Formats: sequence, structure tokens, C-alpha cells
Amino acid sequence: MNTGNADLLRIIRAQIEKHGPVSFAWFMQQALYHPAHGYYTSGRCAIGRQGDYFTNVSVGPLFGQLLAAQFSEIWERLGKMNNFVIVEQGAHDGQFARDVLEFVQKRLPEFFGALRYRILEPFPILKAQQHRRLEAFGDKIEWRDSLKPFTGVHFSNELLDAMPVRLINHGTEKLVGLDGDRVVFVERPVGKTMFNQATLESIDQIAANLQRGYVIAIDYGFLNKKLERTVQVRARHRNVGSTFEQIGYADITMSVDWRSIVERAQANGLRVAGFTDQHHFLTGIISHVASGDRGQSLPIDSRKAKRELQTLLHPEMLGRAFQVLALAKNVGPETNPLAGFKFAR
Ligand SMILES: C[S@@+](CC[C@H](N)C(=O)[O-])C[C@H]1O[C@@H](n2cnc3c(N)ncnc32)[C@H](O)[C@@H]1O
Repeated sequence: MNTGNADLLRIIRAQIEKHGPVSFAWFMQQALYHPAHGYYTSGRCAIGRQGDYFTNVSVGPLFGQLLAAQFSEIWERLGKMNNFVIVEQGAHDGQFARDVLEFVQKRLPEFFGALRYRILEPFPILKAQQHRRLEAFGDKIEWRDSLKPFTGVHFSNELLDAMPVRLINHGTEKLVGLDGDRVVFVERPVGKTMFNQATLESIDQIAANLQRGYVIAIDYGFLNKKLERTVQVRARHRNVGSTFEQIGYADITMSVDWRSIVERAQANGLRVAGFTDQHHFLTGIISHVASGDRGQSLPIDSRKAKRELQTLLHPEMLGRAFQVLALAKNVGPETNPLAGFKFAR
């Protein structure tokens, strides 16, 4: 049975009645990002214990603190330049930005002085939440609807898995059609085409605007193209039984195809600076901080921080489920890998 937001269901049915079956990418765009009724754009999405699902960010501030240490190392490698920009895309309610900025302000004042934080946010309701959460940082932060040239780091956590995808498998595409007034999958043959066009176009945009620096993307996905791609629909920490239940009330994601992202990045002049799982990435950062004399000790003594660390690192929790890709532009090949890739396999 179809359930979900009644207005959204009406809009989807009307589109199919008028034009015939639509791609899953169009359906996903409406379900997540319809300007008034989408799961994200309506402000309904809640991440964390009380919400629909966890992310690294919702585990606690430690994730942002560890990434702040990695950003700081990159800033040092780029010659401690002024106006070093962290561009975050998929910033949601601004919690990651706050965790990073609070840590940098307190522990890395020189870096804080040189830093600008730019949030790329197309959705007004999320922008308003971010403004509230980040009020204390005043004009350290700027908001943009689209990318503009920058030097520094482009960062995202679970952005790529939330981009609309088509469902294509062995020359067949699963489209979204109607059976009576029921929204259902219908299959059609399809020519050779990419399933993740929106993701690849976002890589084009990032590559075109990054002047010098790195892209760090954290997400769950696979390198092997032969793996079956599956869509996940989640609400209240459970997988929803069918893709067409809780439309507009549930999150929809698809595991990321890292290989096609790397190929597109390389075609755009980016170089792979590292790829590893989250466990090895965060362990590398911790080891880097512990070995240096940077006055940057990480606050991992409390029981709460230890629990956060375990959730982020443990192979059966988030440590192996997530991978980290770093891409570089106009920075010479590293003699030493970035801190997070020190233990990369
Ligand atoms: C799974 S959530 C992750 C949120 C946050 N990064 C975290 O880890 O908790 C995906 C986020 O990506 C955002 N998003 C999707 N497409 C986007 C785009 N093109 N530009 C910016 N944000 C986007 C969604 O609005 C949503 O907030």
C-alpha cells in the first residue's frame, strides 16, 4: 500500500498520469526534496536517537573534532594560508560545522583566525536551522546556494548517498508507474547510461570550483561494480518495508559507487589522495594528533567520548560501513599521505 504525505502522493500520481512512468531519480527528488513536501525540504527529517537514523555527526562532537584536526593538517600543508575555506555540503542542521568550529576556536586559534566556513545549502528550512545553531560564530560562516571558486577543503558526510539515482541493472530500468492509482515499479529496457548522473555532475561542479586543495567525502558504498545496488528506505531507525510507503516521511539512500566517482574526478583533473575505511581514517588522525606537538590533544578521556570513539571506529558499527575518499587539486603528490590515510590499506 502507498502511504506518506497526501499532497506529495497526489503530485507524483498526477505526473505519471500525464507523462507515463517516471525515473526513480525523479521520484526520489520529489520524496526527499520537493520544495514544500519533501522529507528534507519540509524540515521533517530528524537525525539521531530521537529521529530516523544515525550519522557520524549525530554520534557526538568527536567526529567533527577529528575532522577539524585533519582540516588543520591540510591548512598546514597548504602553507598556513589566510582565507582557507572549508566548504561543507549536506550540512543539515549545522551540527558538524559547530563541532568543528568550537574545537578549532578553542584548540587551534591560529587556524581559526585563517579559516572561513562556507555552507552550500539550497534548502531554506535547513539554512534557517543552521543559522540558529551557528549564531555564535557570526561572519566566520557564509552561506551559498551554489559553489564558487575556493581554496581549501570541500567536505561532505553522507551527501552522495542522498543524491537521486536511477535504478538500472543489466539493460533494464525500474521506473515508477501506476497500477490503478497505486504507485508501483515498472520495468523497461534502457540503453547505456549512468545511474548516478546527479552525483557525477556534483563532482564536475566541485572540480571546476576547487582552485587548490582537497575534497573529502565520507559515505557508504562499494568499489566493485558487480555488486547489486540497493535502495534503502529508513524511518524511525527501521528499514521501511516498501519504497512506496511513507513517501516524504522516510529517508531514501543508495550506496555510493566510488569507482565512477573517482573516474569522473580524474577526468576533471582531480587526483586521488587517499581511499580507506572510516576505521583506518580516524585512527590515522588520532595517531597524527598524538604524535605531534600541536597543542591539539583530543578530548577522548571521558566515558562519553570513549563511547563515541567506539561507535565511530568499531568495524561492526560505523568503522567499516563507511569509506573516505580524498581527492586533490593543484597540490603536489604527497611525500607523506594525509593524516587520515597514514594506515590506509
Ligand atoms: C543523510 S543527510 C546527512 C546530513 C549530515 N551531513 C550528517 O552527516 O548528519 C543528507 C543531507 O544532504 C543534503 N543534501 C542533499 N542534496 C544536497 C545538495 N545538492 N546540496 C546540499 N545539500 C544537499 C540533505 O538536505 C541532507 O541534509
